[in-house]
Amino acid sequence: MRFLISVLLLGLLAWPWPVVHAARAVRPVKTTAVEVRAEEPPAEPSYPDIAANDEPTPRLNGPRVVGTTPGREFIYRLPVTGAAPLTCTVTNLPPGLTFDAATGVIRGRVEKEGTTPVAITVRNRYGTARATLRIVAGRNKLALTPPMGWNSWNVWGTQVSDEKVRAAAEALERTGLAACGYRYVCIDDGWQGRRTPEGVMQPNERFPDMKALGDWLHARGFLFGMYTSPGPFTCGRYLGSWRHEEADARLYASWGVDYLKHDWCSYEGIARQKTPEVLQQPYIVMRAALDKTDRDIVYAICQYGMGEVWTWARQPNIGGNLWRTTGDIEDTWQSVSEIGFRHSPLARFAGPGGWNDPDMLVLGVVGWGEKTRPTRLTPDEQITHMTLWALLAAPLILGCDLTRLDEFTRRLLTNPEVIGIDQDELGVPATRRDTAQDGTEVWARPLADGRLAVGLFNRSNDTQTVTANWRDLGLRGRCTVRDVWQRRDVGTFDQVFAALVPPHGARLLLLRPQPTAPRSPRRTATPPANQHGNGN
Ligand code: GLA
Repeated sequence: MRFLISVLLLGLLAWPWPVVHAARAVRPVKTTAVEVRAEEPPAEPSYPDIAANDEPTPRLNGPRVVGTTPGREFIYRLPVTGAAPLTCTVTNLPPGLTFDAATGVIRGRVEKEGTTPVAITVRNRYGTARATLRIVAGRNKLALTPPMGWNSWNVWGTQVSDEKVRAAAEALERTGLAACGYRYVCIDDGWQGRRTPEGVMQPNERFPDMKALGDWLHARGFLFGMYTSPGPFTCGRYLGSWRHEEADARLYASWGVDYLKHDWCSYEGIARQKTPEVLQQPYIVMRAALDKTDRDIVYAICQYGMGEVWTWARQPNIGGNLWRTTGDIEDTWQSVSEIGFRHSPLARFAGPGGWNDPDMLVLGVVGWGEKTRPTRLTPDEQITHMTLWALLAAPLILGCDLTRLDEFTRRLLTNPEVIGIDQDELGVPATRRDTAQDGTEVWARPLADGRLAVGLFNRSNDTQTVTANWRDLGLRGRCTVRDVWQRRDVGTFDQVFAALVPPHGARLLLLRPQPTAPRSPRRTATPPANQHGNGN
């Protein structure tokens, strides 16, 4: 129930509610001596039962493998969670890299090609977590797992600014998202100003100093994302890179850019036919320009799937690390479900180094710059969105106002096991394994440690029982089943697992096949309680 109360406020300096409630809260009232009216804080919102990532034990999140090119700048902020103070120790770094324990960032330039198993220990008063992070140095070793980060478009549209980008990066730190692995901070359309007579692009007045912004992000262990378009203009009618590709790539490298989203808009004025050669040409040109710089720049191709881009985006003269597979996403069930569920046939084209991109997440406060609002997806649709993107090995690029992150969205974005599935180093995206007339679907992807990640989806408007049959999953015998959103082991099951799934909702499971042993009447039917204590 909403009602108004009158309060007299003198010197209200700090808003007392935790940041996670801010999206639902009324705006803080100004410091003033006059009588003002404020709404009462809403009751704790109700949302589906998904676990919070607030365990005190230490943990290394994110991927177990990261790549770099020898001789080029490498920045990796260790994504670690657990009760403070946390102590990280990093041993066996390849020559050229150092770890700064104060900032938690590994940086430097790897000297030689090769794979190094780096030992990472995270400690606090609750325990010790040990993990190996493989640092792979070589040519074309970027995006060995799908990029994770934030992009300005879905919330700010073309009204992005230096201030908003810094606020997003600070919020990534404050909310614990950076500690879960979100590390690319990307400016989308709307940063461009004019070109100098020599053809050098100038940012507009909202970006006083791009190099300083890049340095600021790097100092915090973030990576810097930039946007351009191959035509004369971008989709937002700002200047594109047409005939300035080399100069632009050089400029981005001088700013410290680590990720480039290359769009399509206005190139159709140049490419009148859409043959594969014509569709590929602008991406070949920008690839060559990027190769002339001395930076590792993740290459994000954004032409909405034309010409079955997934079949050619990875060819060496293009070297796309991710490619949009569809038109722009919106925060509606129709958009998210139509985009997400069409990816089964595309799975075989993606893998370490190159990913299908079903577009950025539409979770949290979005708005494309007009007027921001909480996503229009229902909570169950949001669970489906995140579940499906993790199963698809999709880039996890947030598109919301991170300064207004509510608790439910924070839980959706920070579940370390969901992120672990997305970032699994085997890099095999899920495919559809079963579908039924009632609108239910079962999807699965194999993981590097032998488990299977399984999504039970209900696309209908009624609650349904969704059944995962082992025969559709290529499994036999007994499997332990873990519920990933609730973060608990459910038990051991034979041949089949069924669960009720709400309308437009999803369950995300981890199945671990059990070794088959000679039948014995005394075998227990449940796994040891700590079977999946480590989850990820
Ligand atoms: C296209 C892209 C979007 C965004 C806008 C910017 O529509 O698909 O993701 O980058 O351009 O104008």
